Amino acid sequence: MSRIVLATESSGFEQRMRRLLGTASQNGGLDRFSGDLRREDIERVVVDLTKDNPEVIAIGPGVAAERALDVASLIDRDRPEISVVVVADPSPDMWERALRAGVRDVVAPDAPEKELRAVFERAAQTASRRRSNLVEDVEPITAHGKVLTVLAPKGGSGKTALAVNLAVGLAERAPGRVAIVDLDLLFGDVTNAMLLRPEHSIGDAVDAGRFDLTMLKVFLTPRRGTLFALCAPDSPAVGEEVTEATVVRALDLLRREFDYVVVDTAAGLTEITLATIEMSDELLLICDMSVSGVRGMRKVVDALDNLELNAPRRFIVNRADSKVGLTLTDVEATVGMRVDARIPSSRMVPRSMNEGVPILEASPRAPVSRSIWDIVDLYADRPNDETQAAGGFRRRRRQG
Ligand SMILES: Nc1ncnc2c1ncn2[C@@H]1O[C@H](COP(=O)(O)OP(=O)(O)OP(=O)(O)O)[C@@H](O)[C@H]1O
Ligand SMILES: [Mg+2]
Repeated sequence: MSRIVLATESSGFEQRMRRLLGTASQNGGLDRFSGDLRREDIERVVVDLTKDNPEVIAIGPGVAAERALDVASLIDRDRPEISVVVVADPSPDMWERALRAGVRDVVAPDAPEKELRAVFERAAQTASRRRSNLVEDVEPITAHGKVLTVLAPKGGSGKTALAVNLAVGLAERAPGRVAIVDLDLLFGDVTNAMLLRPEHSIGDAVDAGRFDLTMLKVFLTPRRGTLFALCAPDSPAVGEEVTEATVVRALDLLRREFDYVVVDTAAGLTEITLATIEMSDELLLICDMSVSGVRGMRKVVDALDNLELNAPRRFIVNRADSKVGLTLTDVEATVGMRVDARIPSSRMVPRSMNEGVPILEASPRAPVSRSIWDIVDLYADRPNDETQAAGGFRRRRRQG
């Protein structure tokens, strides 16, 4: 078996690699593909390229970008355990297209030796990791971050307001360790609520087929370096194409990388939401004080019970101070759950969402923010000395 196959006509590059690898290139450690890469039957090309079961296939230099990426996509589809490296000018455009094609790395043919060596070592490591996990597909995990999913029976309940602020609050406690995922795939507005300008979204993962953590990281939009958002696609048409499998894969990768993965969802129990619930460590069920909201919540709870989706649940009442004729006791009796947290009404919430500054940052001491900090406290310890908290987020805890 050869570890590395070079799919190139460049004997100069082959010699360079042989020098670089020394004895490791002997005895099948390195082979140059003798077939015709330009052959029309691309499936055949891939079969020939992969027949000796290499760990790494390097495509280029001298192979047209289009062809290199088509071959890479097919290898990724049929033989995902093999790492593909494209040897070409690593322009941002090439990088982006390559990642979508499942390519592990892009490196210039004249890259410094150290870089070239590192690229091939990483590719080989990924390949052997993927091989050892072939049976299970995803790596088994012993510990992972918490997936916290915000759910509501109907639109306008405050899911996005809660998800965004929970993520911002957690990111203050655990900077860099928090991701927020907008799974309101058709009309998600996490982007606006946080004033993000995403270049990518979960919609990019649709084209990527099997994506790994390296690719997923490209799809994330950082916010102040402390929080990372996997945004909903700009266009509902792309949102429609996102499948449960993509969502499950994305959440699985994210929870390996982050301590907290906060998920905002579309109203009700869509297929995407049900798949998300199965991946969740905790559900935050939120409704307002309206009769329809509360009855809808009861239906959600019954549906979860019927489907035996037993992730721990927290029940949060939004606009809890609304004078609409229902008492909290009525709400608890109808839903059949104790209320874990109450968020009061505040005109500052819509204003902060319109301005794209989460209320925890815009007005950290307002009662509505304190109620959300109490929810953050359920998941992340407060720093011992609150005066040390970063970003001027000093606050008092609500009593009682
Ligand atoms: N506690 C609150 N006080 C006042 N307004 C609120 C409060 N919570 C949410 N809102 C406002 O209610 C509206 C709906 O909130 P939000 O967008 O968070 O709900 P949603 O459940 O995500 O809705 P959708 O299903 O449409 O995405 C927004 O204008 C928001 O600013
Ligand atoms: Mg929303």
